[in-house]
Parts: sequence; structure tokens; C-alpha cells
Amino acid sequence: MTEAKRLAAEKAMTFVEDGMIVGVGTGSTVAYFIDALGREPDRIRGAVSSSDQSSQQLRSHGIEVLDLNSTGPLALYVDGADECDPRKRLIKGGGAALTREKIIAEASDRFVCIIDPSKQVDVLGAFPLPVEVIPMARSLVARRILAMTGGQPVWRESVVTDNGNVVLDIHGLRISDPESMETALNQIPGVVSVGLFARRPADVVIVGGPTVSIL
Ligand code: 5RP
Repeated sequence: MTEAKRLAAEKAMTFVEDGMIVGVGTGSTVAYFIDALGREPDRIRGAVSSSDQSSQQLRSHGIEVLDLNSTGPLALYVDGADECDPRKRLIKGGGAALTREKIIAEASDRFVCIIDPSKQVDVLGAFPLPVEVIPMARSLVARRILAMTGGQPVWRESVVTDNGNVVLDIHGLRISDPESMETALNQIPGVVSVGLFARRPADVVIVGGPTVSIL
């Protein structure tokens, strides 16, 4: 799947226009996209980054990392996903960067999602759904999630997010109504963000492989 990720990422360069400020996600697929940007670093004005990891990689290529508060709305956001359904609704957050990813997606006119074919699903939920949570609310949120969804929340113990929070991964879901679940989980006090990108799905999905598809 590594080659498929690289091919999807390279294709995303066709959406980059000269002088743009590009929103940049996080993960192994996006890492290929950052490398592609790094081959022509002067083409763009800079990037808004969704994680410390991506910021570091961007800077290593001489690309300036800008603050979203100074840039205003972005024309383009490029990011990967853990799952993608036929309506371009996504599960994201496998890399624990979901909150900043969601902020940048919301701030962007066009969200181009780059994936390998293994990420395509009919129904979201086989990939455990990440939820970023304020640390003191971890147990409360876990109980509410169990009662609300029937899924099993598992604390990703080794991880502290770039925002200083924890992540619960909800196992055993089959998400028939992603918009409603996203809204409902967002209401639990202590939830910072939910890795469902249904209310703001991707606009374009690029699936890498021997033939690259643009959906
Ligand atoms: C990080 C993400 C990533 O986009 C997602 O986990 C996909 O990662 P990869 O490109 O490594 O398969 O949401 O929070």
C-alpha cells in the first residue's frame, strides 16, 4: 500500500496552485505529499500544519509553517484518512491529530483526501473511531460513549495529543448515520473532537494504485 499512498499524494500536487497557502494533514500518506511539496518549495507561500510532526517535515524542506489565525480561510487542504465511504465521509485520527485536522478542514474551501484502496469502505466503523478527550473527563466520556453507541471505548494509553489531551478509540461500531453520531458525540462534556468527518466530508478523494482514481 506504500506505493499507492505515494501515487495518491503525488496526484494531489495537481490541485496545488502557485502562491497558495496549503493546509497540510498528518500521516504516512501526507508525508509523501510534503516530500512532493518539498521538491518545489518556492511554488507555495507556506503551509498551515495539523501536527508538530508535519510542521517539522515541512520546515525540513524549507516550507514556512503559518498560523491559521493569520492566514484566514485556505483554498486547499490535503490530508489522508483511516476510512472513506462512498459519500466521502471519513474516519480520521489514527495519528491522533484529529482536532487540528478538523479545524483546518473547516477553514478550507477544498478538502482533497489522499488514500490507498484499503481505506475505502461501504460503512464506516470497522476502524476504531478516535475521540480526543480532556484528560479529567476520560472515564466519564468512556461511560457515555458505551451507553450512547454500544461501542467499546479503549484508551490509547501511549498517546498525548499535540493539544495535551488523551484519545479514546471506539471499537465495534457500524456507523449507519455518521452525521448524527458526530453531532451526538460532540455534545458529551469533555469531548474535544470526534474523528468522524461527516458534516464536513472531503470534497475530492484521490485513491492511489496502478490506476489513480479521482472521486
Ligand atoms: C492522522 C490521520 C491520518 O490522516 C490517518 O490516520 C491516515 O494515516 P496514514 O496516511 O498514515 O494511513 O487522520 O490523525
